[in-house]
Amino acid sequence: MSQVQIPQDSGSRRDYVKGLFNSIAGTYDLLNTLLSFRMDLLWRRKTVKIANVPPGGFVLDLCTGTGKLAFDFAGRSQASQVIGTDFSQDMVAQALDFKKSIPAPSRQKIIFFQGDALRIPFKENTFDAISCAFGIRNVVDLKEYFSETHRVSKVGGILLTLELTRPSNRLVRIGYYPYLHFYLPLIGRWVSGNPFAYEYLAKTITEFVSPGDILALMEKQGWKKCRAIPLTGGIATLFVGIK
Ligand SMILES: C[S@@+](CC[C@H](N)C(=O)[O-])C[C@H]1O[C@@H](n2cnc3c(N)ncnc32)[C@H](O)[C@@H]1O
Repeated sequence: MSQVQIPQDSGSRRDYVKGLFNSIAGTYDLLNTLLSFRMDLLWRRKTVKIANVPPGGFVLDLCTGTGKLAFDFAGRSQASQVIGTDFSQDMVAQALDFKKSIPAPSRQKIIFFQGDALRIPFKENTFDAISCAFGIRNVVDLKEYFSETHRVSKVGGILLTLELTRPSNRLVRIGYYPYLHFYLPLIGRWVSGNPFAYEYLAKTITEFVSPGDILALMEKQGWKKCRAIPLTGGIATLFVGIK
């Protein structure tokens, strides 16, 4: 039985999520690798491939965390500028730290700053591609997320939202729930030192809206050609839309 109590009102929930990610920033990448068996790496690469950023394109990575997807865009796409933002100052500090160790051509393309995915400080029609990996389960207002991203996307621009979802494949489901509710919180607590962070992860995956509902929300906010691409039996899903 989960003991984690997630606040319901949007202001408290926002502070709760921010505090949670600040508290696990130092161990976030190690745990990601351990808990996803490195699949997160493949999913991010697939996201960059599907984005197919045009030469010289502008990319915005929301909820960038330690910047993993932003680094992939800088190194593996034709983007000339990649901007990564996150509201957790400690996650952004990690991203800025990692930035120092990557090769100069990629490094020079990336900017990180602290910011809220629901109040994007850019004008209309700015970006060729906007991405968000494992972030939307945490944002307090999904409608606002899809409308803000739509506002700052160029016409013809692409939105790529990668998120952990409940597996659609029956075989995958057999091992998945014991993993999600037992192994994951246990390892998460042990490595991060935070007793609730990985229970939070399990709870938010279990309670998250269905892929069909996400697609409907995207369309309502103006995104076109919306599709959901299941990854690894539906453990993750990449939601894609075009403005
Ligand atoms: C699970 S982490 C994902 C980090 C990264 N995108 C990755 O691929 O590993 C979720 C991140 O979303 C950030 N976040 C949650 N809600 C946010 C919001 N409203 N605005 C900006 N960042 C947010 C958290 O601070 C956290 O760093």
